[in-house]
Parts: sequence; structure tokens; C-alpha cells
Amino acid sequence: MNKKYLYIETFGCQMNVHDSEQMAVLLEPSGYTLTDDAQKADLILINGCSIREKAEQKAFSELGRLIRLKEKKPELIVGFAGCLAQHLGRKVYSRVRNVDLVFGTHNIHRLPEMISACEQERKKITQTNFSSKITSLNIFAPPLHGSISSFVSIMQGCDNYCAYCVVPYLRGPEMSRTPDDVIVEIQKLVESGIKEVTLLGQNVNSYGRKLQQECNFVSLIKKINDIDGLERIRFTTSHPRDLSDDLIDCFASVPKLCEHIHMAVQSGSDHILKQMNRGYTAEDFLEKVEKLRHVCPHISITSDIIVGFPGETQEDYQATIDLMEKIRFDLLFSFKYSARAGTAAQKLPDDVPTDEKNRRLKDLQALQNIHTQEKHTALEGSVQEVLVEGRSRNSEQDMMGRARSWKIVNFKGTPETIGQRINVEITRGYLHSLRGKIKEN
Ligand code: SAH
Ligand code: SF4
Ligand code: F3S
Repeated sequence: MNKKYLYIETFGCQMNVHDSEQMAVLLEPSGYTLTDDAQKADLILINGCSIREKAEQKAFSELGRLIRLKEKKPELIVGFAGCLAQHLGRKVYSRVRNVDLVFGTHNIHRLPEMISACEQERKKITQTNFSSKITSLNIFAPPLHGSISSFVSIMQGCDNYCAYCVVPYLRGPEMSRTPDDVIVEIQKLVESGIKEVTLLGQNVNSYGRKLQQECNFVSLIKKINDIDGLERIRFTTSHPRDLSDDLIDCFASVPKLCEHIHMAVQSGSDHILKQMNRGYTAEDFLEKVEKLRHVCPHISITSDIIVGFPGETQEDYQATIDLMEKIRFDLLFSFKYSARAGTAAQKLPDDVPTDEKNRRLKDLQALQNIHTQEKHTALEGSVQEVLVEGRSRNSEQDMMGRARSWKIVNFKGTPETIGQRINVEITRGYLHSLRGKIKEN
């Protein structure tokens, strides 16, 4: 079989990143090897995100750039995938005519057949139908050579229908994988050298709700904790409404579970939270944070916030700022509201002017930078357990890894430390990372 090259460009969340890894694995038997040089590629896949208008624009501008490679290489196959393909279906062709293949989030496992049909028949293929099974999730993606950490999808889809969010329409209803499938996958990953897994789901807290057998997220975590050779467990993301006391207790009682939680608050205004259909108040959120910090005082808490949701007044925005001041997140991902087709909020007037959204976002990010810097400075002098992932991007002599809190730590070291958990004394806290030195025992 001829050696062929595959170039994948991924946008969006960790789920899309994981899907791209699975696409690469699935295409190996068809003779495709991953390349990071698009010029060399025989097949280009763009795995797009549709969460906000801007994400959509970015994917299309990349598609526009990459499709031009067909001018010099007419046999090049270009596919458009993921949440954005799911969202647009055939409409992709009216925006970019030359695309060969459009497939959605439930059709990844069919990729080898689709590519073979593209290669042989050179006709356009569109597959964006939903499946009632979770075939795609059960594809095993062996880790890339030398990887220490891996994603593991434990569920697909979302049933929450937050008013602003398009994900339930793109990834379908919530479905959980069986605990056995999850455990077997992690055991295989550990055999291939993986030390840390991040369990993925749009709302991992509701894991197992629709399974035949009795297993909730807490019992799944406890089972995973018993896997020999696995050293760390992370998960993302948690819906605040469904964060149980039992799960909070795991941060103290499950040794491999890292002390970090990503839990999107979205807004600090009860009126806006209600409009968003989030199912909790700012006070409820604060209470969960207090419980988490009571059980696990050093837990790192990260979150998402949307500014400029329809009807957000200056007072609503101020309530978000006040909540941020009370909580002081370790890190925040913040976004300007963007109306998405088919969502409940799309019917509401998008009435916060763009300039005002920009101002709110800028001020909120400036405040968060202060909080993040404070947290990082406070860690100076502390000793952190770091799982070493590889060389640092900043310097040849430096290695990088993550502390249990998910914070990036750079330190002087050698590649022999890759894959090890070592103690590092933090010497300097920067905004985006920590610097430290290996602590000799
Ligand atoms: N399931 C995750 C969120 C996935 S989407 C959770 O609930 O935690 C990631 C983030 O994108 C959301 O938390 C939200 O802050 C943001 N987001 C989603 N839809 C958006 C929209 N229409 N406009 C702006 N931001 C949005
Ligand atoms: Fe979107 Fe809400 Fe589901 Fe998260 S929980 S994916 S924000 S609908
Ligand atoms: Fe993720 Fe974007 Fe889809 S955030 S779930 S890739 S719409």
C-alpha cells in the first residue's frame, strides 16, 4: 500500500481534539500517516467547532486557505468534520464548493469507508445523521508515542439545553459508555505508557444516569482509581447543579484524583442564570465552592463565563464581577455571547451592543488576570508534585509538566524525568505558568 499523508486541523474543545486523535487512528489501516505539513497531505480534515460565531469563522478561513492546495494537487481530498459539519451539513458545499466530504460527530467510525469511496468514486459524501449507539466513542486511540496523558470519553452528547448552547444539537442526547468499556480502555492506555487520564463529557456528573447497570460517576472514579499503573485522574466538565457531596468527597478520599475542578458558572446574576436555564443560583454555586474548599483546601477551581447574554444589564454584569471577587478562580475562560441557530436564546434580542460586550469582557479578563497572578504568586516556596510531560516550549534546558492543580510548571531538568512524578519547589509564579526547581529529597 502506498504511504499517504493525513493533515488534521482541529478547533474547539478537548472533545474535538480527542475525536481528531480517533480519526487519525482509524485511517492508519488505510495507509494514512499523520503529518504536520499540509503541503504534503493527500487528505486534509478540518474538525470544526460551532460553539460561537467566531469559532465557525476561524474554521472556514482555514478551510478556504487549505482548499487552495487542490489547485496544485487535484487528487487531494478535503473533508470537513465535527460539530461545525454537524451543524451545517450540506450547507458547507454552498460556502466552499470543492469540499469532498462532510461528516458529523456521530459518523467518525465510518471514516475509512467514506475515504475509500472518495478515493475511488470522487463524488461528494455527506454523513451527518445521528446514531442511537455510541460506536464512535468506543474507537480505541492508542496514545501518540511518548505521551503521558490521554483523554478518555466516558459519555457523549448533552441533555441540558442551556439556552445559549448549541452542543445538544450537535452531539445529540446524553449517552454514557459502560464502566467496563471505560476501564478496559484505560487499562490499555496504561499498558501503552499513559500515567494520567482526563475523563471527558459535557457533564460528567450525570455519568451513568441512563445506563442499564447501576454505576454513577463517583463509583466509576473509584473503579478507575484501582487500575494498577495509572497515577492520576482528571475530569472535565462538571455542571454545578449536578455536583454531588459524594463527588466533592472524592477530592479528599480518592488518592489518584487530582485537586482541580473545571465548573462553568457562566454568570453571577440569578436573573441571567435563570434565563440561561442553568438550574442554580449564584448562592448555590458559592456554596458548592465552599464545600469543595472545605473538603480540599488547595483545590484549584477554573470556570467559564459568558458576558453580554441577552438582557444582561450593568447590574447583572456587576453581580458576575462580585461573584468572581468572592470566589477568586484559578483560571477563567471568558466569552462574548454569540447567538447560535436553533437555541432558545436565539429568540431573545441580542441587545447588548458589541462595544459594551467588548468592554465587559476586557474588564473581566483584567480582573481575572489579577486573581490568577495572586494565586500563582502565593504558590512561590511551595512544593508541587509534577508529572513531567516533555521538554518546555520556552527553553531547550527546561522540562515541563503539570502540577496536580493543572498548572503548568517549567523547571531545569533532563528528558529522563519524562513520565515521572517529581517534587518541584516553586520559585516564581507567572501569569500563565509556574517556574520551579527539582526538590532533592
Ligand atoms: N459542557 C460544558 C460547556 C461546553 S461549551 C459545560 O457546561 O461546562 C464551553 C463554553 O463555551 C461554555 O461553558 C460557555 O461558557 C461557552 N459558550 C457556549 N455557548 C456559547 C455562546 N452561544 N456564546 C458564547 N459562549 C458560549
Ligand atoms: Fe452546553 Fe449546557 Fe450542555 Fe454544557 S451543559 S454542553 S453549556 S447545554
Ligand atoms: Fe466542543 Fe465546539 Fe463541539 S466546544 S462540543 S467542538 S461545538
